[in-house]
Amino acid sequence: MFHPLRVAEVEQLTDDSVAVTFAVPPQLRETFRHTPGQHLNLRRIADGEEIRRSYSICTAATADPVLRIGIRLIEDGSFSTFALKELAVGDTVEVMPPMGRFVLEPRPGHFAAIVGGSGITPVLSIATTLLEREPTARFCLIRSDRTVAAAMFLEEVADLKDRFPDRFQLVHTFSREEQQTGLPSGRLDTERLAALLPALLPVTEVDGWFLCGPYGLIQGAQRALTGLGVAEDRIHQEIFHAADAPAAPRTWTSPGGSTVTATLDGRSGSWPVQDGETVLETVLRNRADAPYACKGGVCGTCRVRLLSGEVRMDRNFALEREELDAGYVLACQSHPVTGSVEVDFDA
Ligand code: FES
Repeated sequence: MFHPLRVAEVEQLTDDSVAVTFAVPPQLRETFRHTPGQHLNLRRIADGEEIRRSYSICTAATADPVLRIGIRLIEDGSFSTFALKELAVGDTVEVMPPMGRFVLEPRPGHFAAIVGGSGITPVLSIATTLLEREPTARFCLIRSDRTVAAAMFLEEVADLKDRFPDRFQLVHTFSREEQQTGLPSGRLDTERLAALLPALLPVTEVDGWFLCGPYGLIQGAQRALTGLGVAEDRIHQEIFHAADAPAAPRTWTSPGGSTVTATLDGRSGSWPVQDGETVLETVLRNRADAPYACKGGVCGTCRVRLLSGEVRMDRNFALEREELDAGYVLACQSHPVTGSVEVDFDA
């Protein structure tokens, strides 16, 4: 459910990115309390068309109720263009409560992240909350940007280094700029990471790895970590921008005559599936309040539990192995295979 929130601050971070702070009224504080790593879905109606986008929260959970997100301009991105060029203090934006499972509840241990570009946003919240709440926890951040000028949240990250010099380790690489640290410029690909990581930290003893950024970087980092012996269940990932992930032609067309039964906010209904529709499309035709954002298999907003029947997913960059094993699917990517399919949005 969307809530109108007032914009309290818009801060220019780089030429092509801003941080937007929302004012959360006292009666919504509980609703908007977040776990570090979560994102907000925003909605805007422009020229009669509804646009939804998700943006990660950069503030620490310890800073609640301050709610701040990072937005980077993406090419042809109608929402990000609006946010950078038009959004101003005092405006109202429709915002869904925080969601997402790319999270770290603070606990003792050693954690690490490999991020590219705007992928720093949720990891800033994760690292800050962890270091502030857990006096013995350690965090290693390996970040990659095109240039220093393009790096978001430089000051905030430098501040973490100052506040927690013994527990926060930072390696910042630049793909298009020479640097003084002795690290060569260039992309953080599998080979580079495989050589760099063991020199930085005991790779297999790290309790959780958080990968966030463009699809290519995440794939490379995942391969490097697996190659170094890191267990799959210690690697968490979040891809930024659905358009980044490989295009997925629809691999499945639903047979005619299928029926989708869905429970949403405690109410259920059954509707016939039209040709080629996804479960989300069928539900949305009948329940406009069905949750979604990217419709690209990336954000996980449309996650449902499959209660009966069978579906095929076109692609999935949001759900982890244990969620799939527990019967969760992405409604925006699921096509019914059986004559009837029952899903629960509330599960
Ligand atoms: S709406 Fe984003 S994964 Fe389905």
